[in-house]
Amino acid sequence: MDKIVITGGRKLKGDIEISGAKNAALPIMAAALLTDEESVIENVPDLRDIQTMIRLLRSLGVKALYDHGRVLVRPGKSLKPIASYKLVSTMRASVCVLGPLLARMGEAQVSLPGGCVIGPRPIDLHLKGLEALGAQIEVQHGYVNARAIKKLKGNDIYLGGAFGSSVLATANVMMAAVLARGVTTIENAACEPEIVDLARFLKKMGAKIAGEGSPSIEIEGVKKLKGVRYGIIPDRIEAGTYMVASAMAGGDVNIRQVEPSHQNALIDKFREAGIRVDKMKTSIRIRRSGRLKPVDVATLSYPGFPTDLQAQMMALMTVTPGISVITEKIYPDRFMHVSELNRMGARIFLEGPSAIVHGVKRLSGAPVMASDLRASAALVIAGLVAEGTTEVQRVYHLDRGYEKLEIKLSSLGASVHREKE
Ligand code: EPU
Repeated sequence: MDKIVITGGRKLKGDIEISGAKNAALPIMAAALLTDEESVIENVPDLRDIQTMIRLLRSLGVKALYDHGRVLVRPGKSLKPIASYKLVSTMRASVCVLGPLLARMGEAQVSLPGGCVIGPRPIDLHLKGLEALGAQIEVQHGYVNARAIKKLKGNDIYLGGAFGSSVLATANVMMAAVLARGVTTIENAACEPEIVDLARFLKKMGAKIAGEGSPSIEIEGVKKLKGVRYGIIPDRIEAGTYMVASAMAGGDVNIRQVEPSHQNALIDKFREAGIRVDKMKTSIRIRRSGRLKPVDVATLSYPGFPTDLQAQMMALMTVTPGISVITEKIYPDRFMHVSELNRMGARIFLEGPSAIVHGVKRLSGAPVMASDLRASAALVIAGLVAEGTTEVQRVYHLDRGYEKLEIKLSSLGASVHREKE
């Protein structure tokens, strides 16, 4: 298995380009099932999760392929509406074929995703929303069996849970509702940019949707959708990760091909921490030379601070003089990076869903590993300033969500390479 080897101490300088958003591409690939016509999705990053989704689509009897940033999906007249445990257990986002299969085929059998290293991740809101549209749902032998005896019918649905809105539940219900009879209103819908991107894709296919990006989305069902060509938005989490890496290592980095308004929560915290941020039309420039100031961060759903940047932000706080507090409000157990960062010399104490981070003078390189994508990214970021060499093992986690990570960081002057173990 490959590992990423980082020698700390180099400042970053130069330009990098951000790839298309993984978390927008995955549900949009599932949404392409809503027609029998071919769709072409552009600006799709070359990642392991995208390949998993292609394998899943093929297992449903769909022609699907990836070629140089483009995904072609040709569903044809009939789909095999079964998503197996083998595929769903390797990638939770597979659950977003449930809505489209139910809408197109009137039935779906999708494995329950099960546990996840970032904590319990139930799908009760997905099921509640689909039931409200008239689906009959049974959970048996580890599978969700969903059936629409009659055609799905629009309804008013409240989709909030104990931790607020749900991104993929909103996506699943939206995808089922676009072909239902009548009007559906989703209240407490997720406002994430990936939901807006999905709505735009569906509208291009012929769906009638209003209110995306707000907590109240209205969908008027249509009879049929068509295949389209569509370009995915930039990955705000990848962009945020490079923003944090630039602030951590210091220097002057221009991050291109981004949507700056998607980064407002992070930019706000950067300014509080004394990091210079310049927002341009499609790029963000990060400059840091002086001392960092401690900041407190609480993760929230969009437009709040993203949970997918919590680990990276914590890496930055480890070398910020003073005490910073990071509170995780989306996944209260998402802290596997803490013990690994502490192995590198950080001083982080966990108090329930909060991490108290005492800034240290320096980190020291070590072999580390994490069993989650964003936690692994945080360890790479820590390695950029650690004395000596850091080896981040289990690189397949990074390959799920970061395209050419070591190449992009090296192009900015970091000493980072991939090694075969
Ligand atoms: N929740 C429920 N019931 C549900 C669904 C969710 O209680 O039926 C809870 C979750 O346990 C969590 C909260 O609601 O506490 C929010 O979870 P959400 O459903 O929004 O997460 P998701 O849609 O499964 C997506 C991203 C995650 C990201 C979260 C939160 C994709 C493919 N995944 O997951 O991304 O952390 O939204 O923003 O879009 C990542 O990219 O590393 C990643 C984990």
